[in-house]
Order: sequence, then structure tokens, then C-alpha cells
Amino acid sequence: MYVRADDIKSIDYIGKEVTIRGWVYRLRKQKENTFVLIRDDRGGIIQSIFPTEKVTNLTIESSIEINGVVRQDNRAPEGGFEIKGNNLEIFHIAEPDYPIGEYQSSELLLDYRHLSLRMRRMIAIAKIRVSILKYARQWFIENDWMEITPPIVVKGAVEGGSTLFKIKYFDEEAYLSQSAQLYLEAMIFCLGRVWCLTPSFRAEKSRTIRHLAEFSHLEAEAPWVNLEDILDIQEQLISYIVEKTVAERTKEFALLKRDVGQLKKVKVPFDRIQYEEAIEILRSKGFSIKEENGKKRSIRKGDDLNIESERELTRNTEKPIFIIGYPIQVKPFYVKEDPKNEGIGLAADMLAPSGFGEIISGGLREEDITSITKRIEKEGLNPHAYRWYLELRKYGSVPHGGFGLGIERLMRWIINTEDIKDTALFPRTMSRATP
Ligand code: 4AD
Ligand code: MG
Repeated sequence: MYVRADDIKSIDYIGKEVTIRGWVYRLRKQKENTFVLIRDDRGGIIQSIFPTEKVTNLTIESSIEINGVVRQDNRAPEGGFEIKGNNLEIFHIAEPDYPIGEYQSSELLLDYRHLSLRMRRMIAIAKIRVSILKYARQWFIENDWMEITPPIVVKGAVEGGSTLFKIKYFDEEAYLSQSAQLYLEAMIFCLGRVWCLTPSFRAEKSRTIRHLAEFSHLEAEAPWVNLEDILDIQEQLISYIVEKTVAERTKEFALLKRDVGQLKKVKVPFDRIQYEEAIEILRSKGFSIKEENGKKRSIRKGDDLNIESERELTRNTEKPIFIIGYPIQVKPFYVKEDPKNEGIGLAADMLAPSGFGEIISGGLREEDITSITKRIEKEGLNPHAYRWYLELRKYGSVPHGGFGLGIERLMRWIINTEDIKDTALFPRTMSRATP
């Protein structure tokens, strides 16, 4: 019977014979006996003991299968249980120059990401990622949303032309999708409430701790909703994901030294702050921004919020907050203008607490064909590329809205790490498309 390390660390297993498969995590050779720590395929670690003459050729990361009897010994690392080895089989002896050790630069660890993902910290993060994706999907299933699979190769920009990745598509030019939103919008006429989880691409020229060139984008769209409905959906989804993930990944959060007490406070409702109020708060703190010519000036109405202003607004918060009603000119062409408040978009961002900032953008969509065509032109985009999208406004247009959540942004906050590269398995940035 094959078992995993963590499953046998219980008094029920004492005296029982077990077989574990995995990799050599650490070796402590003594004259007679050698302690072989084995890491199984879910990152669990347990110590085993073999006569040294039986294991002389073992190296770190060699793949092995061990068989032996479980016993309790308080001196044993990783929880006080160990395996008195009977038999050890080798699948592969790893070359002795395994490049990942205890002290390495983050750049080297990124160069060797295919191997450094085996580190305990990375395994813990990968497992938390599994839970986040699992519970996100579970929330949508439980609430009767339909999952769709939009294309990645597209002909039009959604989030501005400057971050588009161009590709050669047979004899034409096409782009990698920045957002599935336009396709989700098409699907609300066929399936009602829809959602998807796809890679989105942004040629982000700035190197920041919160931008990737490829990220996991969870997006949702629904017909006949108002802005408040969209915010309710977001806060329910996020609080559900956080609650379930914290419950499932206690060990992993402990290993990462993440204080889950804070995460347990993430319950609905989240505070809603009007954009104008946010600007007032920032002004009262003397917050200033840099203009394009490099000069500093106080932030004022009409400015977009950037990393620093979002950090300021969420520095002392415990739960995410919504910022509602951004000026239309800082948001993309599809954002619906507030009919009661000229120049203001019915759009909202969700900012994560403790300074992490934006994790979701969403809101209502302009449903009138004339207004949205003008906005597309104003953004310098070609309306012909949006012909199919505009036709959605020609045949039974409905009020609708939705949002997009960056999974790595969400993870940055949940695992409490500054650098977004920590949260993706194989991060893609301006300077890195390998491994
Ligand atoms: O704010 P964004 O650009 O909004 C949209 O794409 C909408 N079309 C979504 C929608 O309404 N369906 O992106 C949405 C979220 C951001 O809030 C952020 O969490 C994440 O996607 N995001 C990125 N994450 C990592 N790296 C990047 N370069 C990101 N750009 C956006
Ligand atoms: Mg945004």
C-alpha cells in the first residue's frame, strides 16, 4: 500500500509497514545508519533510517521508493514520526550538482523555477493556488453560473492598445487577449450569467511588483444587473474563496508564516467608498502624484488611482474595499457613464487590504451603440475591429455588467507577499519567458 508522509504521522500507524514514493529531501550520513528524509509527491516529508552501506550512492533529489515500519521518536524532525527502513528502491540517482540549496538569489531561483518549485515554500503556495481556483469554480457552480471558454487569439484591444501582444496569425496580424470580457458579453445573450478563467496577456513595459505579462484572469458577466448587484457578487465570491482556502490550507499558511487571523475577518459586506471621497481622503493626507514631465503635484479629481494611492487608501484596512464611480476618461471605452452624474463611470475597483491595492475591476457596460462607437473612436481604436461586438448592441441590447479578478493579485494579498512573481508557477514578465 502506497501512502503519503503526512497521512502516516499518527499513532494509528505505529508498528505498521508502509511504502512511500518520493525524492530525497535531505541526507544525514552516520557511520552505521543514514537518515534519509523523503519528500512525497504532495510535499509531505518524513524521516527514514537505513543502514549506511545500503544507501551510499543516494544523492539529493534522487527518486526512490522506501518500505519500512512506522515508529514514533520525538527526535525525528517533521512531527516526531519516522520509518525504520526495510527496503529502498531507486528509480533514478540524481546528478550530484542539484542547483537549489538553502541560500540563493531570487533571480537564480527564477532561472531554475522548474526545480525551485519543489521547495517547501513554493509547494505551499502552489497548494494555496489550487484551493483558490477550486473554490472560485465551486462558488460559480453553487450559484448557477455557466463556465465558458473564450478565444485567446483576438483582433481587438479591450484594455488599451499600448499593452497588446501582437502575433502573426497566418497572413494577418492578431493579438493575445487582454481580457475575455467582450466574449463574455456576447455569451450573456445565450447563457445568462457566465464566467471564465483564462490567461490574459499584457505587454506591460513597466517592471512592477504587481504586473505580469501573462496572468490568470477570472472574469464574469451578467445580464440585467446594476452596479450594486455586481459588487455583491464580487464580495460574496472573494469572502467564500478566502474562508474556504484558509480552512483547507492551515498547514501551508503556517509554513508561510501568514497570519490567518486577518483573513478570517474577511466577511461581507466590504466598505464602499466613492471615488471623489477617496480623492478627498488622499488630499487630506497631502498625497501627491508625479506628472508626465516629472513634476509633483497634489492629487485631484480626474486623476486615476495608482499603486501608491491605492496603498495609502488600504494601508490600515482589514477587509477589501470598493472604490466606486471613476472618471470616465481613466476607464476603457466600454464603461457605462452614470446617467445621473456626467463624466462619472459606473465602474468600481476592489482593493485588497494592508496596502495590496487593486485586485478586481468591474462595472456596468455601455449598452447604446452610438455612445459606445464614439467612445471606441475617442480611444483611437478602429470601430471596424469591433463590428461583432457592436452588433450585440444592435440586436436586443440589455443592461449588463461584470468584472475581472487577477488570480495572482488575489494571491499576493492572501499569501502576503510583495512580489507577484511568487504567486505564478512559471511567471512571465518583460524580462522572462523561461522556464
Ligand atoms: O483592471 P483590468 O485591466 O480590467 C479588465 O481587464 C476588465 N476587462 C475585466 C472585466 O471587467 N471583465 O484587469 C482586471 C484585473 C485587475 O484588477 C488585476 O487584478 C488583474 O486583472 N490584472 C493583472 N494582474 C497581473 N498582471 C497584470 N499585468 C494585470 N493586469 C490586470
Ligand atoms: Mg483595473
